[in-house]
Amino acid sequence: MAFTDIEVVKGYIRMCNDGWLQGWHERNGGNLTYRLRPEEVEQCRPYLNTLPGGWVKMGVQADNLRGEYFLATGSGKYFRNVTEAPQDNICLLEINDAGDSWRIVWGLEKGGRPTSEFPSHFLNHSVRKAATEGACRVIYHAHPANIIAMTYVLPLTSRDFTRALWQSATECPVVFPGGVGVVPWMVPGGADIAMATSELMKEFDAAVWAHHGLFCSGPDFDITFGLMHTIEKAAEIYVKAMSMGQGIKQTISDDNLRAIAKDFGVTLREEFLD
Ligand code: 13P
Ligand code: ZN
Repeated sequence: MAFTDIEVVKGYIRMCNDGWLQGWHERNGGNLTYRLRPEEVEQCRPYLNTLPGGWVKMGVQADNLRGEYFLATGSGKYFRNVTEAPQDNICLLEINDAGDSWRIVWGLEKGGRPTSEFPSHFLNHSVRKAATEGACRVIYHAHPANIIAMTYVLPLTSRDFTRALWQSATECPVVFPGGVGVVPWMVPGGADIAMATSELMKEFDAAVWAHHGLFCSGPDFDITFGLMHTIEKAAEIYVKAMSMGQGIKQTISDDNLRAIAKDFGVTLREEFLD
């Protein structure tokens, strides 16, 4: 038995590999964090470093994440390499009692620090934890090509993106009835983009970063990966349909969307419908 044999760690590593196989993680692109359950922290405890790293301030703070533990990908590390050498590419982080600093308690054995987007992940975890009464545990950032391509042609509003995606595949309004948020282009990796994203994540469980990528949240790996996959698949259909050069000749109407919502028992964000 090793740290990497723990069920939740295996699930985390599998998700990194799944994202790599989708082509969403060129080079070191993208990052994944998971907030552990108390019993999962206990499973990890026997394998933690006897000497934890020093506390590092994040530039952001969250009361509801004091003392939590997160699995995180390393900054500059490649998703491609996670399965091969998890101990060098991912880490387990502990958050301090003030909720403003992390320290590494396992992993990144050849050195490094958690993803540069950890401030965004951390604030997103905070708002999603509050919005879902503790159910949200996964924040996932990837660079899928089609959703990024859409940010070059559509107005950068949540309404425009949500409508285009809902209309691109019938399952979309069922999978993300609340729609997707859109963050305008901003410098990645800092507190500003973290705050702008987490502001949107109060309302949405996914947020597009213009000309950069997508953030998704969810209670487990399947649902979060599935959300990323569904949004990117819809974006691919949109890009393909537009690429045929005829424009959109027919689509799923607003009444169709309302009918799906009724039959599948979901509530669509009404202000996004005509
Ligand atoms: P990291 O290598 O620091 O995780 O950064 C990758 C990325 O996607 C930045 O947005
Ligand atoms: Zn990125």
